[in-house]
Amino acid sequence: MKILGIEHIGIAVDDIKNDSKFWKDIIKINHLSTEDIKSQGAKTDIYDTGKGKVELLQAYGSNSPISKFLRNRGPGVHHICFEVENIKDAIKELKKNKVKLVSEEASIGAEGYKIIFIHPQSTGGVLVELAEK
Ligand code: CO
Repeated sequence: MKILGIEHIGIAVDDIKNDSKFWKDIIKINHLSTEDIKSQGAKTDIYDTGKGKVELLQAYGSNSPISKFLRNRGPGVHHICFEVENIKDAIKELKKNKVKLVSEEASIGAEGYKIIFIHPQSTGGVLVELAEK
């Protein structure tokens, strides 16, 4: 597979309104968008440095994977997303190498990208997202 760079770092927060202040007002990274990603049970606030983004993630309801993460580990880095040239090829290659994926197939994530998550068990402890624009 071809990795084109780090697309964004996903950070789980308790409250976007409060926790975005550092990103927005202190280090002043350009705010790109705010989105509800129903499939992931998350509300996201996206900031763009121009060379990689920061995605703040707030949980939607107590069944959300984000609220589970916050309960178990508290706020902090939730995942790292790499941009790939072709997600179908990437998934095929990962399956061939018996890498554990969170879902069987790609879905549509923030900003309309095609995405898939790789289980932390296969990466050394970090949830990894792959995205094709
Ligand atoms: Co993400």
